[in-house]
Amino acid sequence: LARGAAAPDLAGRHVVVSAGGTREPLDPVRYLGNRSSGKQGYAFARTAVARGARVTLVAANTGTLPDPAGADVVAVGTAEQLREAVLKAAADADAVVMAAAVADFRPAVYAAGKIKKSDDGTGPAPVELVRNPDVLAELSAHRARPGQIVVGFAAETDDVLVNGRAKLTRKGCDLLVVNEVGDGKAFGTADNEAVVLGADGSTTPVPYGPKEALADQVWDMVAARFTRTAQ
Ligand code: CTP
Ligand code: CA
Repeated sequence: LARGAAAPDLAGRHVVVSAGGTREPLDPVRYLGNRSSGKQGYAFARTAVARGARVTLVAANTGTLPDPAGADVVAVGTAEQLREAVLKAAADADAVVMAAAVADFRPAVYAAGKIKKSDDGTGPAPVELVRNPDVLAELSAHRARPGQIVVGFAAETDDVLVNGRAKLTRKGCDLLVVNEVGDGKAFGTADNEAVVLGADGSTTPVPYGPKEALADQVWDMVAARFTRTAQ
């Protein structure tokens, strides 16, 4: 579908997209991380630019992915850094899409020097973890401006719809894009399959296809909500 020139329906809008996966350092050389590639978030950023939006892309450890042309890219590492960058950009945003995989926990202690193994055969000390802030829940609870649309993601392995609906309610966002993971689905691939749940009770299946197509479907739903709440 040709978009952009024909339908710049996000013109005049500022949208914030988070992408990638946060890394929580243990010591100067090690971290706790996840397998998110950032591709889905980048697809959201590219399609939003094509539809005329001003786009801030908060990118967590997205490695070699090329910066989407026309987007402002803010690179972050940890969940705390992502939170700060997203909240700052969200202050004047019309929509926020939280596609990043944010680590739920971080090591309670950061070792300033590399953690060494001992020669006496004793095991390593257990790594104590503490909770990271929930950025999506915070964004949803404290909208920076009235009518701001907040979109979350969920990767689920079981009871996808039930868990997704519960997560939507818990997080308080407007839309939740639910992916079923497992069997090589979702992580690192170019294509995706999802169900978009709405706080209005709607359930919108998105067939297997390119991540751009999923992003465009979600932008359609976001744009419809802009219209509904007027300006
Ligand atoms: N998220 C967030 N901050 C966190 C964790 C998650 O903003 N500390 C966001 C993600 O960007 C995503 C959504 O919340 O948009 C759902 O993430 P998910 O990990 O599925 O949700 P959790 O509430 O962490 O639930 P779970 O226990 O299943 O991991
Ligand atoms: Ca999580």
